[in-house]
Amino acid sequence: MKNIVILVSGRGSNMQAIVRAAQAEQWPARIAAVISNRADAEGLNFAAAHGIATAVVANKAYPSREEFDQALQAEIDRYSPDLVVLAGFMRILTPPFVEHYAGRMLNIHPSLLPSFPGLSTHVQALMAGVKVHGATVHFVTADLDHGPIVAQAAVSVLPNDTEQTLSERVLEQEHIIYPRVVRWFVENRLAIDNGIVHIDAQAQ
Ligand code: GAR
Repeated sequence: MKNIVILVSGRGSNMQAIVRAAQAEQWPARIAAVISNRADAEGLNFAAAHGIATAVVANKAYPSREEFDQALQAEIDRYSPDLVVLAGFMRILTPPFVEHYAGRMLNIHPSLLPSFPGLSTHVQALMAGVKVHGATVHFVTADLDHGPIVAQAAVSVLPNDTEQTLSERVLEQEHIIYPRVVRWFVENRLAIDNGIVHIDAQAQ
């Protein structure tokens, strides 16, 4: 049984998709905790209602990024995680924190990386006039939004799309690919070789 700790900053819809899939598909894993940097993160309510341990490590309570990351790491490690899942966790992480979870921390980013790292990805995509946009699940490295890619999902950009409509269609895809990737991880189907992720054939 693998332990998964999920970090959220807000709504937590990706976290909810993962919790639901883990239950419905009876993964060899349990969601050990959902942790947020914000006490008002909606996702915490869903987790608590599903009997999952929750915790808040408020970034505002720490004078520096380093001290926040140390406190966060201590809280996460109370649950002996095999995997840390960033699900809309809106903090830039320090290199020692990232190194501590090397090869066992995943993130979802709302663009087809390496296009549009950073914030406001749907606006970036609309401004660039791309005709295909999407989401990426990747392992986290110290290089923001540039870790080894595990899975991507694409959507067409439609002529009348707004940030809202485009983000909604991308989010639907996020809810499909993120649980799938977490499942592959807990089933030991992922390997990283020279920055390239290989997925066990059975998983495809
Ligand atoms: C998701 O669209 C996720 O891809 C994005 O935040 C949203 C969180 O939604 N993450 C990032 O932008 C990370 N840089 P959720 O809280 O409903 O899962």
